[in-house]
Amino acid sequence: MSGNATGAEAPTTEALDELRRALPTLRLLTDAADLEHYGRDWTRRWTPAPLAIALPANIEEVQAIARWANAHGIALVPSGGRTGLSGGAVAANGELVVSFERMNRVLDFNPVDRILTVQPGIALEAVHKAAAEHGLIYPVDFAARGSCSIGGNIATNAGGIRVIRYGNTREWIAGVKLVTASGDLLELNRGLIKNSSGYDLRQLVIGAEGTLGFVVEATLRLTDPPPASQVMLFAVPEMAALMRVFAACRASLNLSAFEFFTDRALHHVLAHGAQKPFDEASPYYVVSEFDAADEAQQQAALDVFERCLNEGVVNDGVLSQSDAQAAALWRLREGITESLSSHKPYKNDISVRISAVPAFLDEMSSLLTREYPHFDVVWFGHIGDGNLHINVLKPAELADADFVAQCERVTRLLSEVLARHGGSISAEHGIGLVKKSYLAGTRSAAEIELMRGVRRVFDPRGLMNPGKLFD
Ligand code: MLT
Ligand code: ZN
Repeated sequence: MSGNATGAEAPTTEALDELRRALPTLRLLTDAADLEHYGRDWTRRWTPAPLAIALPANIEEVQAIARWANAHGIALVPSGGRTGLSGGAVAANGELVVSFERMNRVLDFNPVDRILTVQPGIALEAVHKAAAEHGLIYPVDFAARGSCSIGGNIATNAGGIRVIRYGNTREWIAGVKLVTASGDLLELNRGLIKNSSGYDLRQLVIGAEGTLGFVVEATLRLTDPPPASQVMLFAVPEMAALMRVFAACRASLNLSAFEFFTDRALHHVLAHGAQKPFDEASPYYVVSEFDAADEAQQQAALDVFERCLNEGVVNDGVLSQSDAQAAALWRLREGITESLSSHKPYKNDISVRISAVPAFLDEMSSLLTREYPHFDVVWFGHIGDGNLHINVLKPAELADADFVAQCERVTRLLSEVLARHGGSISAEHGIGLVKKSYLAGTRSAAEIELMRGVRRVFDPRGLMNPGKLFD
């Protein structure tokens, strides 16, 4: 759908003038550099072409924007930190981008309920800091914490590196305020722990990728900080050993992270300045973090390592002895995305049940070896949650469009393998523009039809983030 969706309305410049008149205090940007900056996310695949950028300062302005857009048939794209990897915040068709950059404050902390109410544009890292000021944590965490926003996290039901202990974003959202496409303001769940009063619209909005309205406020559950922890890096000799190391760790340790990456990932992250962890190379590595508050827990970690070594499922290991060493080990995993970005990676973000990981890994790795014989394919991700990030790097000599076309053909095959193993084409990045043609491999026709119906009820004219998730 184009920005001026129905064609019958006033030309968009006149519509923009009307918006200026109706909301004289609204900050509106139309410079080419701003259109480019706010019209894209980290995918960099589409040419940004929004109509303008609105930066509302409060909920009333967001409501007025929605009413104005509805009157003129202008499409709207919600925008947070634009760190998304599926094109969910791309505006390439004359849409009005609604950036929540100015709505970025903590509004309230309630110590009895242990909830923090924030505006959607606040960065995840600022939420972590605000929680720490009250001696608590907001446990969702991942490498883009400094740039991504809570609104974007909610839109994609963001996961990250602590899902193994704490779950995804949806577990931590006690309430949201939503401005619908018609400009109504809904207060969904209001911070309640128990609320058995029909459909939980809050949960419908989480993961909806901005298609059901604008999240203009969020109430976040906080929890106690974890005990002191240690980080262990394992060098793993073969793919089949990864889940055996996981089983050994899970049986004896209280895990808060279990992440893996391959030697190709290590190669790129080292080229980006990280410290080499072992003299000898291994094909796979695991970063695990676990409670290590007392000697018994620390000894349990050493015992796990010893057992894994004896069973031949690890070659070597490093156990952090300080916060600095833990951070250096984490950098090997968290630095991967940045180290790959100049290679224009085609990103897969797939998941299967933990029990299905070994069989899925076997089938997927034969598929990828067969289909990508000459490409640098980098594997990493949250293997303890059954979530893998398979990044295919673009060879310098290959044109962007040819590269994407080749990757899309393979993704179709991958999507069939995923369907056979009961998996998902998007574990945590969302469907956006990038994965929408594979949605039917993960969701049934009946489910997609129901999702379409839900979207129509919330947004009959199809103005909220059109083209994302499904057409
Ligand atoms: C990660 O786990 O590092 C993120 O999902 C980012 C990525 O996949 O590149
Ligand atoms: Zn991830």
